[in-house]
Amino acid sequence: MKNNSSFENTLPQPKFFGRRKGRVIRVAKTALLERFLPQIAIDEHTVFDPKTLFGVPVEKVYMEIGFGDGAHLAEQALKNKNIGFIGLEVFQNGVANLLSLLTGVQNGATLPEKMEILPQRVDNVRVFADDARLLFARIPDGFVSRVYLLFPDPWPKKKHAGRRFVNPENLKELARILCKGGVLRIATDHKVYKGWVLRQMHACSSFVWTAKSSADWRNPPADWVETKYQRKALAEGRRPVFFEYRRV
Ligand SMILES: C[S@@+](CC[C@H](N)C(=O)[O-])C[C@H]1O[C@@H](n2cnc3c(N)ncnc32)[C@H](O)[C@@H]1O
Repeated sequence: MKNNSSFENTLPQPKFFGRRKGRVIRVAKTALLERFLPQIAIDEHTVFDPKTLFGVPVEKVYMEIGFGDGAHLAEQALKNKNIGFIGLEVFQNGVANLLSLLTGVQNGATLPEKMEILPQRVDNVRVFADDARLLFARIPDGFVSRVYLLFPDPWPKKKHAGRRFVNPENLKELARILCKGGVLRIATDHKVYKGWVLRQMHACSSFVWTAKSSADWRNPPADWVETKYQRKALAEGRRPVFFEYRRV
């Protein structure tokens, strides 16, 4: 399949250690990747103007990095039709799942001739189906009002700490992309990563932690949508934390 982000030839590839593809992508999901993704994909021609990036005018832009199966992104986009969402995910099966949620096209069903967004939705989602770090440099300063980084891969072993997404280089880019007062939400259920995030964020002068009491990070914010990894953590007895930082 053609990689719709198609940035490989223009930018140096950062090392990526996770999975890009699962063992099987079924017929409907392959069709979604080939026929629907190009309609909403961010590629090298995309212009980052909130007036034209989405199919509808939007007031603000939110971004979700590593959206996994897309359930959180799809639900937030449905609930907030005045906001444009940029989803970044390198795992193709996850991207295909998001497309299925946006269109209602599912495995086992007859494929429609034209693949379209469900009528109850608006065209407020754009997808970068590749390593998030490849896109950062293209996003203008202060373009985004909120970034979700939900249950990033914890890479708990000390020797793999360099692979953790929360690191000074990525935080510098997120601080640049976020507008003043913009919000960075990070959730994790891993004890090593909890401490790691707190230390990394504390060392980064561009962000302040918004929590006033432990209830603020022990409980999800009011508008939270549960994610697959959050459910997995809870089922396995791990209690997630919800850190929210504001761009100063
Ligand atoms: C542990 S999963 C969490 C998925 C989802 N946020 C959730 O809570 O269910 C981490 C996700 O981040 C994605 N990911 C990791 N590094 C990434 C990167 N550099 N760019 C884009 N996606 C990335 C992985 O492919 C994976 O789907």
